[in-house]
Amino acid sequence: MSNELRYDGKVAIITGAGGGLGRSHALLLASRGAKVVVNDLGGSVDGSGSGSASPAEKVVAEIKAAGGEAVVDSHNVAQRESAAQIIKTALDNFGRVDIVINNAGILRDKSFRNMTPELFDPVMAVHLMGTVWVTQAAWELMREQQYGRIINTSSAAGIFGNFGQTNYGAAKMGIVGFTNVIALEGAKYNIKANVLAPGAKTRMTTDLMGPMADQFDMDPAQVSPIVAYLAHEDCPVSGEIYSAAAGRVGRIFIGATKGIFDKKLTLEKIRDNFDKIRDETGYTVPHNATEEMGLLFQAMNNQ
Ligand code: NAI
Repeated sequence: MSNELRYDGKVAIITGAGGGLGRSHALLLASRGAKVVVNDLGGSVDGSGSGSASPAEKVVAEIKAAGGEAVVDSHNVAQRESAAQIIKTALDNFGRVDIVINNAGILRDKSFRNMTPELFDPVMAVHLMGTVWVTQAAWELMREQQYGRIINTSSAAGIFGNFGQTNYGAAKMGIVGFTNVIALEGAKYNIKANVLAPGAKTRMTTDLMGPMADQFDMDPAQVSPIVAYLAHEDCPVSGEIYSAAAGRVGRIFIGATKGIFDKKLTLEKIRDNFDKIRDETGYTVPHNATEEMGLLFQAMNNQ
């Protein structure tokens, strides 16, 4: 098809691409001409175990069998020096980095009262700090070449909340804040950064989703098209969140209500106007903190 979106000449790093969603993103991008670094440390769902390069090797073999180009990388995203080695793998093999898809992740669920540092810290380290360190290692290159596409993987569990996932939810919402800021800092260098909130049947979610995963055909391949679009040169947006599962794709955003404005606020006025403060009618979606502050000036002017 002549109007198909392609990635010829582009190099993509996909972390945690030895299985699940990352594998699916890697297969799609490679099938459209991207050279792909398939990063995966190969541990278990909770991040324990000694790790193995074999899941990533299998994905690279699949890509090559289909005529694509890919290379294995088995560095840990969660440490700064190690994350930098992933970028080095891309440079050594393909000479550049255009796309970073931060996807690697682990789960250590427990209700908050039973949460311990052993459960909390590694989840923050892999999801949030892994995203930070891999992105930072590619950042200077992207600035110099005035081009970059970054997709960071969040989750509805953080954006909206999910029982038993304080560690994961904090990390995943941290990723949203991180992406908001790099989207602003990258704008003048044509670096675009967006967030994915996926849903798919993978080894991470098979137990959690149960029969729902089969009922809706939660194939990771249904999530990869939006990821690939956000990774494309034509991607029109930055600093946004997209949700995708089982063929449904939508945008998630953080809005601000009109609220109330009263120069003589009192505690009782808050109580008496609380419904109005919460009322979602006529909300706005600020694109940065300054725009949010602008709501105050709007309210003053409208007085
Ligand atoms: P998965 O367990 O199949 O994939 C995660 C991969 O990351 C694994 O292959 C694992 O070996 C790798 N990994 C873990 N720690 C790593 C590290 N330190 N360095 C390098 N690689 C590492 O799970 P799935 O579902 O494909 O998850 C992909 C991403 O999507 C994760 O960030 C997850 O939190 C997120 N997500 C998935 C959802 C789903 O419904 N499957 C829902 C919401 C978010």
